[in-house]
Amino acid sequence: MADVFMNTYHRLPVCFTRGEGVWLFDTEGKKYLDFSSGIAVNCLGHAYPPLVKAIAEQAARLNHVCNYYQSDVAAAFAEKLTAACAPAGMKRVFLANSGAEANEGAVKIARKYSLLKHGVNRHRIVTLRGSFHGRTITTLSATGQDVFHKDFGPFTEGFSYIPAGDIKALDKALDGDTVAGFLVEAIQGESGIRALETEYIAEAAKLCAGRDILLIFDEVQCGMGRTGSFLACEAYGIKPDVVTLAKGLAGGIPVGAVLAGEKAAEILQTGDHGSTFGGNPIAAAAGLVVLETVNRKPFLEEIARKGEKLQSIIRGWKHPKVKEVRGRGLMAAADIEDEAWPLLERAVTMAAGTRPGLLLLSAGKNTLRFLPPYIISDAELEQGLEILRGLLD
Ligand SMILES: Cc1ncc(COP(=O)(O)O)c(C=O)c1O
Repeated sequence: MADVFMNTYHRLPVCFTRGEGVWLFDTEGKKYLDFSSGIAVNCLGHAYPPLVKAIAEQAARLNHVCNYYQSDVAAAFAEKLTAACAPAGMKRVFLANSGAEANEGAVKIARKYSLLKHGVNRHRIVTLRGSFHGRTITTLSATGQDVFHKDFGPFTEGFSYIPAGDIKALDKALDGDTVAGFLVEAIQGESGIRALETEYIAEAAKLCAGRDILLIFDEVQCGMGRTGSFLACEAYGIKPDVVTLAKGLAGGIPVGAVLAGEKAAEILQTGDHGSTFGGNPIAAAAGLVVLETVNRKPFLEEIARKGEKLQSIIRGWKHPKVKEVRGRGLMAAADIEDEAWPLLERAVTMAAGTRPGLLLLSAGKNTLRFLPPYIISDAELEQGLEILRGLLD
């Protein structure tokens, strides 16, 4: 273990060396069942053979060209990703490296759109309490959680927060001709897998459209099939103006994307935006494998089925320590009586010899979050939940 890292993370006492499928192995050879996917990233598990092959072949062929040019693989990825998001109305894409960077791009699109169409002083971005949009100064400004708004000010101006799910508050916040965009995480991940109601999202879409305010869906965590449809907005039955993606999009290789539909697809023009590594060929090659694997009806249906199974098993325990279970697809959470973090710690320190540990996630003090790889088998799902049950007992 290295002690030269900045102290930014509260890390558990494990150091991994390799992974295979839903299993990870540490420096001592102990194994762990992964119910976290590196926070919704390793959607195809670890060392997924087609992904490994695509990355290795691409690394041997071409690993970077600057954005003066296109690469064949980034072009193919951009086309395939835009096509995958076409049912949600998306027309064009900008490739970046992370969720925060994708959201920065979305904010720029909304502000420029508003400036061009409605003039100055209409630049505010409304977001929801409990949301999480990233760690850059601007995406922290967008994040509706006070805990992140300390020590690092001044923050980017022009963001305001309203309670999630309160349509009257949204209506009021969008009033006054000062708002460029409504940035929403329809299923709030970091604050405990809290899905907004379909009616709320439908109303919100109408309110935004009526005032020509861009509706921006942050699908950095809930997109890419995680909830059982390729984009979560598809299940909500609405077409946002802008969608941001990252995390699982390249199965473990850094990538981010901001996509725009009819209204906003032509807003960013030459020189408006850029990113040295955006459209990186290795990330694009990995992203192609994710798209080809995940964006198929039977595969997405399996995600939904396994997600329902996960929730119904936990509910079926009627465990006195489990207060509530919720989620969509393989994005689920359980509120528990005990503190979550010590349980996460026990879940890894219990690994010994052939007895596996379990990688879990927390969200807040008393919530467990489950984001297993999509390729998890029923038997592995049951095995992980059995471990969890033992820990709760
Ligand atoms: C919904 C959402 N948006 C944005 C981000 C930021 O993504 P990144 O850490 O890749 O910058 C996250 C990360 O957890 C997220 O869950």
